[in-house]
Amino acid sequence: MQKEVVVSGIRPTGFLHLGNYFGAMRNYVRMQNDYDCYFFVANWHSLTTHPDTSELKNAVHRVIAENIACGLDPEKVALYVQSDVPEIAELYLYLNMLAYKGELEKTATFKDKVRLQPENVNAGLLTYPVLMAADVIIQRAVKVPVGKDQEQHLEMARNFVDRFNHRYGDVLPLPYAFNYGSELIRIMSLDGNGKMSKSENQMATIYLADDDESIRKKIMKAKTDQGPAEPNSVKPDYIQNLFTLMEQVSSADTYAKFNADFNASSAGNCVIRYGDMKKQLAEDMAQFIRPIREKAADIQANKDQLHRLIAQGAEKARARASETLKMVRDAVGLNY
Ligand code: TYM
Repeated sequence: MQKEVVVSGIRPTGFLHLGNYFGAMRNYVRMQNDYDCYFFVANWHSLTTHPDTSELKNAVHRVIAENIACGLDPEKVALYVQSDVPEIAELYLYLNMLAYKGELEKTATFKDKVRLQPENVNAGLLTYPVLMAADVIIQRAVKVPVGKDQEQHLEMARNFVDRFNHRYGDVLPLPYAFNYGSELIRIMSLDGNGKMSKSENQMATIYLADDDESIRKKIMKAKTDQGPAEPNSVKPDYIQNLFTLMEQVSSADTYAKFNADFNASSAGNCVIRYGDMKKQLAEDMAQFIRPIREKAADIQANKDQLHRLIAQGAEKARARASETLKMVRDAVGLNY
């Protein structure tokens, strides 16, 4: 039986962090055995925010290295760089004719960027979801492992596919956001302000490249409070975030102990000790990240191997992409 196709991408706009890992990369690693997987570095997307391009090459290499260090096997999956697959750009052109200014302007990520960089509201930023749809559709993917923040982009991709199929014939499959759990993941910043991200408060973001000492410092500074007012309270989101992280990196017994302490706590009888919880989480997190950091550094230092892997990934990605482009050109009627 043919395996289902999976696509996902990461922008090389900074160091990868726990949000990227638990929202996306952990799923990539699990999916590589059961699906036909295409994972890439979204370097075209990163240009929408006008980064310093002298840093870009290094950042692209780091994303590739960190993906492999997290457990992706470049022999099993296609691991590639977006700009090495020009078929994506052509598909982006066709999809742009099916995307409307009004819906693009309403996209949450676009509105955020308009707020953050009012001096640089370029057309690439507006059509960001169209390029993302092209990334997915070019491989005719049906599952897209992403964090919660990308859900709306996937909905838009389905709209573009619907319009394409309606206009040109039933050619493209519908892609859906995917997570192994029942819900998409959102890791919060450790200061409790919004999602963990590559560009916001660095002291509240744990990077896969952080050393043990930084990890300890950051976790010990994470936002907590005086404890729950009643037994079995609903956890505030910044406390829930610490439990979510603990569930991922600590033993089941450790998680169960702190969870029971939380549930047994009330005003005047605070059983949970957030200081102890953070100390434990910091140790377990440092142990979790250490092998990833060390392996990624080794891979990144071996440029010959990196170049070979990137070329191999591009070849795999282009093979399927060119098939799709032929189907698309035929459907649109661009075959003279
Ligand atoms: P990017 O580079 O911002 O993030 C890469 C992946 O990490 C997930 N993620 C998170 N998940 C949970 N909690 C967080 N705090 C958190 N922060 C980031 C993201 O959801 C994403 O899965 N537009 C995409 C890149 C992209 C793409 C695509 C993804 C381009 N083309 C095609 C899928 C398919 C982005 O900016 O991700």
